[in-house]
Amino acid sequence: MPIIAPSLLAADFANLSNAIDIVENSQADWYHLDVMDGVFVPNISFGLPVISSLQKHKKKVFDVHLMIVQPERYIKDFKNVGTDILTVHYEASTHLHRTIGAIKEEGMKAGVALNPHTPVSLLKDTLADIDLVCLMSVNPGFGGQKFIEHTYNKISELKRMAQEVNPNLFIEIDGGVGLGNAKQLVDAGANVLVAGSSVFGAQDPIATVAALKNV
Ligand code: DX5
Ligand code: ZN
Repeated sequence: MPIIAPSLLAADFANLSNAIDIVENSQADWYHLDVMDGVFVPNISFGLPVISSLQKHKKKVFDVHLMIVQPERYIKDFKNVGTDILTVHYEASTHLHRTIGAIKEEGMKAGVALNPHTPVSLLKDTLADIDLVCLMSVNPGFGGQKFIEHTYNKISELKRMAQEVNPNLFIEIDGGVGLGNAKQLVDAGANVLVAGSSVFGAQDPIATVAALKNV
């Protein structure tokens, strides 16, 4: 069964306790938290103070997706607000190997996200050292966008690469994921599904998480 990570970007920010209830009382496994700085991506979301407030109420895993420049400057800060998995963008990391090491030194799992245009082959020399690869299946910055079909090819290629050097790799798909493509994504080799609008925009978010989990 895939890991389901609802993205709080699609939740009502005036009612985040409701979003917490949905994650905690459903078959969701992780919170997916999208941090945007208005520089790496053309949007600003939320940051450390909001995640710190959420931390007091959560039992499940915090999967933090940093869409910011120079993510290495904030590794300790995200550890301090309860982050379990910290993902940085390949495109924002000049010294990716060093950043991955620093994340793990803080006791977190390390993730690397790839924009739609970034080939998975660029991870050849880092794949053994990372815990998670987040394949962006939309251009990052906004929820509710259309899934990019080419992602299936990237999943298959990444799965093939991971089988050799890192068979336990989390292959996470982020953007445009819902009941219409979840099964196909898992069949292709994805084992973590991020879902924003398909969960928080649903009539029954808890039932939607269950349906995604049991595809
Ligand atoms: C986009 C974010 C996603 C976003 C996905 O930049 O990384 O996590 O919340 O939203 P949906 O599931 O609505 O495409
Ligand atoms: Zn994300």
